[in-house]
Amino acid sequence: MSGDRKDDHVRLATEQNRERGRLNEFDDVRFVHHALGAADLDAVSLSTHAGPLRLPLPLYINGMTGGSESTALINRDLGIVARETGVAIASGSMSPVFKDRSTIGGFQTIRDANPHGTVFANLSANASVENARAAVDIMSADALQIHINSVQEIVMPEGDRAFSHWPENIARIVEALDVPVIVKEVGFGMSGDTVAQLSELGVGIVDVSGRGGTDFAAIENARRTATDFSILSGWGQSAVVGLLDARDAAEHANVSLLASGGVRTPLDAVRALALGAQAVGVAGSFLRLLKDEGIDALIEEISRWTDQIRSLIALLGQVSVAGLAETDIVITGDVRDFCIARGIDTTMYARRSGNKGEHRS
Ligand SMILES: Cc1cc2nc3c(=O)[nH]c(=O)nc-3n(C[C@H](O)[C@H](O)[C@H](O)COP(=O)(O)O)c2cc1C
Repeated sequence: MSGDRKDDHVRLATEQNRERGRLNEFDDVRFVHHALGAADLDAVSLSTHAGPLRLPLPLYINGMTGGSESTALINRDLGIVARETGVAIASGSMSPVFKDRSTIGGFQTIRDANPHGTVFANLSANASVENARAAVDIMSADALQIHINSVQEIVMPEGDRAFSHWPENIARIVEALDVPVIVKEVGFGMSGDTVAQLSELGVGIVDVSGRGGTDFAAIENARRTATDFSILSGWGQSAVVGLLDARDAAEHANVSLLASGGVRTPLDAVRALALGAQAVGVAGSFLRLLKDEGIDALIEEISRWTDQIRSLIALLGQVSVAGLAETDIVITGDVRDFCIARGIDTTMYARRSGNKGEHRS
């Protein structure tokens, strides 16, 4: 059953990704170009960190698959892509392992293909401490992603219907594990309030995974044979507003933010990094490329992304991922409206570089 579900998710997410319009809230984020401000490309370092995790590149393949024969092959290919490109990689939810032990190899294949890379295991907020420990062991994982996905569960015909125990359960898992826990959404975003709450539960890394890319409300609605639930399509916040909304809470509580959801290009990745993400995750569009064009195409694409992220950092006058916090960003459109309504000052982002151009003249 859950193997069929995973196959459905891959099929529907891939179809959705092929059809999706290109506009999303990343388009509301523009960099101010300072014509004399570029740095030397050779000086740029792409290494980053999220809490105690050191990452050579600010990009990761986000949690997607496992639990069926075909998704085991996808995991193997994604593991090879991660090894060849150096990006971190997360498995899909490992819940199937605890229902059917024969599915284990379809997850472990990620680690087998990529023995020295950074690998995240993935489970739901319902997972027991025992299963959380086992998932980390099975993958020799560097961290555990816990996904929170109430919207998806609500629309999923066979989904969970009880959610209020999640915070307590997350705190138990964080307490019990000796690797970092990353709490992530699955494409509906996080508010600053949620990030503050997660920090109180002991969570040090949060992926605000927002809307604008893979839409699980639409995917689960397509799987429903009962009543239509399309009203939830487009629910939630984008990664862009998630980063803006969570900035104060994250700084105050020393939480590292990651961003994913609707990241379409290396420019979107750099936008997210400049808005405070330590690294950026991509799921649906990398999966689509793997399915449509194969493993070499995805390796080439991710290599292009890392090259272009480096170029953009230099163009913005920086030599590190952290330096992007000093770039000038103009925030427009729906994102600006959201910020005004939430009392977030967007003007400070437009003058963060301290007008270096003037100082130099
Ligand atoms: C086919 C597919 C399966 C997914 N399965 C999981 C999962 O098991 N666990 C999880 O945390 N997120 C899962 N996700 C969500 C992604 O990790 C990510 O949060 C979301 O797709 C938004 O990123 P995107 O717009 O780049 O796809 C899945 C995404 C896709 C496309």
